[in-house]
Amino acid sequence: MPYYINNYIGKLPDLSSPVILYEEGGHRVAWVGSAEETMFRCNAYLISSVSGSEEVHLLLDAGGNQHFEQVVKRVERLLGDPSKVTHLVFHHQDPDVAGSVSRWLEINPDAVIVTTPRTKVLLPYYSIDPARVKWLDVSTLDDTTIKLPAGGRALFISAPFLHFPDAFVTYDTRSKILFSGDIFAAIQKKWELVVSNWKRHQIEMSYFHIYYMASNKALRFFVNKVKDFPVEAIAPQHGSIIPKELVADAFEFLRTLKCGTDLLYEESPIQEVLDDLIQEV
Ligand SMILES: [Fe+2]
Ligand SMILES: [Fe+2]
Repeated sequence: MPYYINNYIGKLPDLSSPVILYEEGGHRVAWVGSAEETMFRCNAYLISSVSGSEEVHLLLDAGGNQHFEQVVKRVERLLGDPSKVTHLVFHHQDPDVAGSVSRWLEINPDAVIVTTPRTKVLLPYYSIDPARVKWLDVSTLDDTTIKLPAGGRALFISAPFLHFPDAFVTYDTRSKILFSGDIFAAIQKKWELVVSNWKRHQIEMSYFHIYYMASNKALRFFVNKVKDFPVEAIAPQHGSIIPKELVADAFEFLRTLKCGTDLLYEESPIQEVLDDLIQEV
């Protein structure tokens, strides 16, 4: 089996190295995130596709400056040379996602930045010269893709207001892993690479979503777009990876969750929602 995700349910891998999530026939997906002990743990992922002399390496949500050294080290362990990263995918522009962009462009000035137009106007605030960057604009028509030399494509799917107005996610048609950015993120007292306790995990995701995500309407719009995709795992930027057997439950969690503007105005029951969550932990 090319998937290694379920090997980590209930046990933490050696985080001094990158963690392989999927590997088969020139296509590899790895976790290359931050091992820092925090409730807001940042994940980064590397999708590599190699066929003969053709190589595509997409680094997803490379992360902030304080995690740069460890992410580079993990990428180096996988590629030999981190300048082989061909694409930097930023699902939105938050500092925990894209703060290290200038340092990645120093490593490879030819790396293509894959992002949405409204993210593109904000990334230069991290001291990059937009005129010197190669950009791939992600369209809200959901038709932006990158062909992968070992087979399959990376598809970029818009996810408006989740949480940035022009946020998007990445779906790898080869591994069938959905890289969801801040969607499905969790704030966890005890991080684990893969979800082992679904009841607890829903509460941990609620903590994040009720404040960060715009509304249930936005969540439902997104779920309707991706619910029919064959999804082997959901890999968010914070918190644990959701394995295949919980994917349908995860979509249902999102579809029914009230958040953001559903809760945060005067008539809202946000305090009740928080009180209920705290009691359940
Ligand atoms: Fe964010
Ligand atoms: Fe984030």
